Amino acid sequence: MPEKSFPTTVKIVEVGPRDGLQNEPTFVPTAMKVELIGRLVRAGVTTIEAAAFVSPKWVPQMADGFQVLREIDRHQGVVFSALVPNLKGLEAALEAKCDEVAVFAAASETFSQKNINCSIAESIDRFAPVLERALREGVRVRGYVSCVLGCPFDGEIDPHQVALVASGLYQMGCYEISLGDTIGTGTPLNARRMIEACAKDVPVSALAGHFHDTRGMAIANVYAALQSGIAIFDSSVSGIGGCPYSPGATGNVATEDVVYLCDELGLTTGVNLPALVEAGEFISTVLGRETSSRVARAMAARRARAASSHS
Ligand code: HMG
Ligand code: MG
Repeated sequence: MPEKSFPTTVKIVEVGPRDGLQNEPTFVPTAMKVELIGRLVRAGVTTIEAAAFVSPKWVPQMADGFQVLREIDRHQGVVFSALVPNLKGLEAALEAKCDEVAVFAAASETFSQKNINCSIAESIDRFAPVLERALREGVRVRGYVSCVLGCPFDGEIDPHQVALVASGLYQMGCYEISLGDTIGTGTPLNARRMIEACAKDVPVSALAGHFHDTRGMAIANVYAALQSGIAIFDSSVSGIGGCPYSPGATGNVATEDVVYLCDELGLTTGVNLPALVEAGEFISTVLGRETSSRVARAMAARRARAASSHS
């Protein structure tokens, strides 16, 4: 029986093709990105961050966003989105026929400078024409706030500062605000404190949790966020990823682990776990390393045991 305060349906925003692959040491070929996205769709994922229209000098791994969006099969009811830091990025995303775009700000001044080369206030000014133009084109805009539970440069971040940036983005017209624990320093108690500060200014139904798993706390933070009423989670298949401008940070919470947790809590995600695990195995093979998903590892070990007992 789910806890009384829990939502009954959870929206999964799969960020693996963007947050996951942006941090790879080598460029992942476009065909592999397209194949991964196809597998995620077949597993029932309905919101996929597929690309980032950022400077290829800053993030070369995302330079093929246009080709990725051109080559994927579009499906009724599946939303494909991309990060855009400015109007130039938005124009590219519109040309690539993105269903949605996302602007990304930070709660930390130093991270904002390192990631997008401007202050928090300048980033908000830069996003105003992006929102105006996107909304005019009928394209919804999501807003990210990074470093909500700590910054690799500035250390601790005041939850009120997070709430200020979150509500600024919401008031500008972002329909959903993703709260990013960029470096994975968060723990359930401070995650709840931060969410509760944001929920004073932004409806909790418009807040999303985006937890990186650097210290193994991400799934605990997802559970804590559920307890605070959050029903939207960003996650990355196989737990791939990290931010190139956040030294030491590892990937997002694995989508497989979030789906398993939701399944066990009786919360609907619409995602088929075995098919998702297969998508994770595909990208792990492409990247040449073991999955970071504990659930996927356990399922693979169980399959191997079953196969050996039948042979
Ligand atoms: P800048 O150097 O200040 O930009 O970078 P500029 O406006 O001075 O332009 C410099 C050059 O970049 C020009 O080209 C522009 O045309 C080009 P040049 O004349 O030198 O040939 N340029 C672009 N090219 C392609 N697409 C664009 C674009 N804009 C300018 N959109 C800028 C500022 C924002 C562009 C840069 O800092 C940038 O691209 N940053 C992106 C960094 C990034 O992608 N970080 C990772 C994503 S954020 C993240 O992972 C966190 C998140 O997951 C949440 C969490 O975990 O917390 C979302
Ligand atoms: Mg991230």
